[in-house]
Amino acid sequence: MMLGALLCCSSSYSGRAWWRRSTFPLRQCQQEQQQRCGISSSSSRWQWRNEKKSKSIEIETERRKRSPELVELEYANLNLKDSYGHAQVGHVRIRQHVNPLTSSFSEPTPPPDWNLIFQDCSRPLMVDIGCGSGRFLIWLAKNSFQSRNYLGLEIRQKLVQRSQLWVKDLALNNIHFMFANATISFGSLVSTYPGPLTVVSLLCPDPHFKKRHHKRRVLQKQLVDSISKNLCLGGHVFMQSDVLEVALDMRSQFNAVSDVFEHIDAVDSNFLCDPDGWLVHNPMGIRTEREIHAELEGAKVFRRMYEKRKHDVDIMIS
Ligand SMILES: C[S@@+](CC[C@H](N)C(=O)[O-])C[C@H]1O[C@@H](n2cnc3c(N)ncnc32)[C@H](O)[C@@H]1O
Repeated sequence: MMLGALLCCSSSYSGRAWWRRSTFPLRQCQQEQQQRCGISSSSSRWQWRNEKKSKSIEIETERRKRSPELVELEYANLNLKDSYGHAQVGHVRIRQHVNPLTSSFSEPTPPPDWNLIFQDCSRPLMVDIGCGSGRFLIWLAKNSFQSRNYLGLEIRQKLVQRSQLWVKDLALNNIHFMFANATISFGSLVSTYPGPLTVVSLLCPDPHFKKRHHKRRVLQKQLVDSISKNLCLGGHVFMQSDVLEVALDMRSQFNAVSDVFEHIDAVDSNFLCDPDGWLVHNPMGIRTEREIHAELEGAKVFRRMYEKRKHDVDIMIS
């Protein structure tokens, strides 16, 4: 009888649209049916759906709560001060997104005096483009056995300020964060660095899904050319995204300069790829924050690493 009652309520609607359009009429109809058939409200399909919906909201809320905990855990040995805040520095909120095409981001950031920044600026340099909170790079600067300098480029100034406070707290002399629109500033910054540029990472960049917003993505041809030109021979570009479309876009831009770059699995058999050509493991030994969030949600992270094999003669001349 219950099934009949429910069929009677829902027979003229179907799918999600039905769910959206007809919650109220359905409820009315159900109530009438329940009164007629004597069905208790707890057994109704409507209530079952609502319970299911609130359960999935609960799971999602739980996940969101767990994500910052996992981030803390990943970077536990850094002991970073929480008092600088998750979403704000001092009393100023950190914006979620900025539009890199606005006029305030159109001027390249001038290069610093590297001697004032790093203790030894003849060391090899790793640059993380769009470094977000900076925890990933700080972890490498503190824990990596590589004798390197680390430079984080980030377009959200408040994040840069907080990263620099952490660097000061930890008294690290091999890492620096700069407020910059990396798309236009990367070349002028790294070309003045005295040592060799050995690694560039581009990790989970903002996806800017809409086609008309693709030009806001950080990786544009100008940046690919700058990386190709400034990276030393044998240097590496590591990139990843949990958004397949973005990963494919970055991949095709580097595949397009195959005269300069080769994918790492062709050069070094220690790096394994899945059948679709994505690296099976994260070679960095530490995950970024976005990567932690994505993996918690069960998403795959698509990774590629390229090695520079040759100089591009055209780019060198230009
Ligand atoms: C999704 S977050 C990823 C942060 C970090 N790499 C990670 O994996 O957790 C992308 C970061 O890139 C920064 N970003 C976006 N466009 C940029 C640009 N043109 N120059 C520098 N940073 C940029 C954003 O502000 C944001 O912090």
